[in-house]
Amino acid sequence: MNTENNNSKCKIWAIGGGKGGVGKSLVTANTSICLALMGYKVVTIDLDLGGANIHTCLGLPIPQKTLSDYITKKVDTIEELIVPTPIKNLSVISGAQDELAIANMKQAHKSKILSKLGRLDADFVLLDLGAGTTANTLDFFLTADKGILVMLPEPTSIENTYRFIKSVYHRKLTSLQEVYEIEYLVNEAMNSKMGKNATTPTALIEKISQMDPKVGSLIKTQMENLNFQIIINQVRSQSDIDIGFSIKSVTKRYFGIDMDYAGYLDYDPSVWQSVKKRKPLLMEFPNSKLVTNFEKIVTKLLS
Ligand SMILES: Nc1ncnc2c1ncn2[C@@H]1O[C@H](COP(=O)(O)OP(=O)(O)O)[C@@H](O)[C@H]1O
Ligand SMILES: [Mg+2]
Repeated sequence: MNTENNNSKCKIWAIGGGKGGVGKSLVTANTSICLALMGYKVVTIDLDLGGANIHTCLGLPIPQKTLSDYITKKVDTIEELIVPTPIKNLSVISGAQDELAIANMKQAHKSKILSKLGRLDADFVLLDLGAGTTANTLDFFLTADKGILVMLPEPTSIENTYRFIKSVYHRKLTSLQEVYEIEYLVNEAMNSKMGKNATTPTALIEKISQMDPKVGSLIKTQMENLNFQIIINQVRSQSDIDIGFSIKSVTKRYFGIDMDYAGYLDYDPSVWQSVKKRKPLLMEFPNSKLVTNFEKIVTKLLS
């Protein structure tokens, strides 16, 4: 078992991006199982407010206590929410019975919860963020050690993915703006005439660098430190697989962000069967191609 030090902070991986139905919960559940089978202690948290279904993906009954009970102070500690699963090393926390409690969470409260999650007795905490780009979702995504974007090889999903990256980027820039008190620089750079091709975020940061080299390089470093991973789900051909590489290069060129292509998942009808049976795919269909897909992805994510 991998527990070098119980006091060390556990790694938080957040799974988000795009719309509903792209496979975020599938990825969260099966990545969690993969890590648990490798001997890591994992806590999986369902933050998909619109459609909490991690417990279904893992074959568990509807949870009794959820993160909303902690937010509304019905329980004192996050630890009380942890429910074991039949899979060794894997437990879950449900966060989704009361949308309002989480949606109205104050910034300070959110930071507190995030730091508590990082101190759970686990090697990994995986967050299923659900769809959308609300401030909470973006903050959980940004604070995680790894932000994993799941998408389908379809034009609409590709658009949604860029929209998500843009929202995350913007949220991060806004938070830096407050820290470095550079709102005026950002505004000035946004409002001043930009040359041809200069409307990209990378060009914006260049512009800020020209006005104030020190702040410019600070922001540049912070933005470059964003760690995004991409997973293409429901792949049916080599050209579907290749979409991951083009997204990676566009994101680098446009946003100046190095995104890792964590890998792809084949389209596999057994996913649907496992959902229907309410059983985790990796356990129910050990011969599915997806098992190999997940092993490759998790190895990549761990490296
Ligand atoms: N690789 C795949 N092959 C076949 N069907 C898939 C695959 N991934 C997802 N699906 C189907 O898409 C549905 C939605 O997946 P889910 O993980 O619930 O998406 P999300 O959490 O993003 O809303 C699943 O119930 C399943 O039927
Ligand atoms: Mg989901």
